[in-house]
Order: sequence, then C-alpha cells, then structure tokens
Amino acid sequence: MAITLPLNDFPELSLDPSRLPRHVAIVMDGNGRWARRRGLSRNEGHRRGKDSVRAVVEAARELGIPYLTLFAFSAENWQRPSSEVNFLMQLFHRYLVTETKRLMKRGIRILALGDTERLPPRLREVLAETVTATQGNAAMTVALALSYGGRQDVVNATRQIARAVAAGKLNPDDIDQGVIDRALTTSGMPDPDLLIRTSGELRISNFFLFQLAYTELYFTDTLWPDFRERELLSALAAYQMRDRRFGALSPG
Ligand code: IPE
Ligand code: IPE
Ligand code: MG
Repeated sequence: MAITLPLNDFPELSLDPSRLPRHVAIVMDGNGRWARRRGLSRNEGHRRGKDSVRAVVEAARELGIPYLTLFAFSAENWQRPSSEVNFLMQLFHRYLVTETKRLMKRGIRILALGDTERLPPRLREVLAETVTATQGNAAMTVALALSYGGRQDVVNATRQIARAVAAGKLNPDDIDQGVIDRALTTSGMPDPDLLIRTSGELRISNFFLFQLAYTELYFTDTLWPDFRERELLSALAAYQMRDRRFGALSPG
C-alpha cells in the first residue's frame, strides 16, 4: 500500500514505507562534468555537490532510511591533480565543521570508511571529532567512504583474519561469510539494499565489492550536483518495483 511520506512535495512519487531499503549506498559521480557544461571549474562542481549531500542526507533521514553510505573519495582518486585533491579535502573538512550541528539536531551518526590514515591530519582530526560527537545518535547512520577501495577493504580484512589464524585465535575451518563480513570496514552495517550511481557511468569503480552481492543497482544520467530529493525518491520508487529473489523463487 502506498502511503504519503514526510516528503510530500512530490505526491506523484508514492512509496511504501514498509519496504524502504535499510541501507542505500551512493556513488556520487559527475561533479566535473556538471561544472564543465557550465564553463565552471571542476572544483565548482564539487562545491555544488556538497549541497546535494545535505539534501540527500536530510531526505533519507526524513524517510527513515537507517543507513546511508556516500562514496566521496576513492583510493584511486589520490591520482588526481593535487589542486583538486586539496580542494576536496578542504571541502570535506568544511562539510564536517558546518554540518555537525544539523546532524546532531537530526540524530544522525557519522562513520568513516576507508583508509582515513591517508587523509590530511586536520581533516582526520575533525572527522574523529565528528564521529565521537555523533556516536550516540540513533536516528540514522551516514557512512562517509573516504580514501575507500573495495579491493583494499578485502585485502585488509584478509590480513586481519590471517593474523587471528597465525595467533591461534581462529581455526581456518571456522572462516565463513560472517567472519569476512565482520573483518570488513562495514562491520556491523547491513549490506546495501540499493546502490545508486549518478552521471551515467555503469561501473562499480572499486566501491563495495563483497557487500554488493545482492544489492539492487540503480544508474541515472543525472549528475551528482543535480541529484536532490526528487531523484532520491525516483530511485527508491524504482527499487520498490524490483523483485528481489536472492537466488530463490519469488512467492506466488
Ligand atoms: C565525483 O565527481 C566526485 C569525486 C570522484 C570526488 P567527479 O569529479 O568524478 O566528476 P566527473 O566524473 O569528472 O564528472
Ligand atoms: C567513483 O568516481 C568515486 C567516487 C564517486 C568517489 P570516479 O569518477 O572516480 O570513477 P571513474 O574514474 O569514472 O571510474
Ligand atoms: Mg567521476
């Protein structure tokens, strides 16, 4: 049954609140192209992308989606020119500083995924402060994937498991999917039900690998700076049309 959700600015997009995804993961792509089309610098695109982050986080919170992961910077994005990398690091810093109040007010907990050791010290500090300040918030978890790579995640998990085996704390025969799950950086989070990638690229780009086994994939040509509440609702409406079988047969 379709019920009007808190975001009633878009009555044509009715969703079933009992069938919302528990975890939505987003590859926020297309900032550069958004800017280029307007004759602006790539950094201007990133700046506008920050506004989409706020809009999508707050819409997801209103809808009651418990987990949202935002792929903000990949392990491979370090290869970009240092002027762009530095700008992005400053933008992440500014986002955390300016948003903490709003996040606290809305009961949103922030987590960081990825090789955060590589981030500039100042950003690392603010990130740690935000994670600590918001750790008691229970309305929604927003995981920021920064310097994240899916393969690196699997490599780190393997090392962790190998160490436990070498220390005699784990029997290799006891390694199952749960053990691997708990060794990944996403430990404790449900697997994504829905992956959204903006900007028309049809690839994973080393985002979650193990975690996406049965995730529904949604690709849109919309560029990230143009992705707001309406686009999120469209993605959720598309998700609710899917028949998730997990390899079994659908009932009926
Ligand atoms: C996504 O936008 C933001 C990051 C990867 C940090 P891009 O910067 O990749 O934008 P395009 O793909 O060049 O348009
Ligand atoms: C993926 O986008 C990473 C993020 C959005 C953070 P990219 O723009 O880096 O991906 P490719 O290079 O097009 O695969
Ligand atoms: Mg891109």
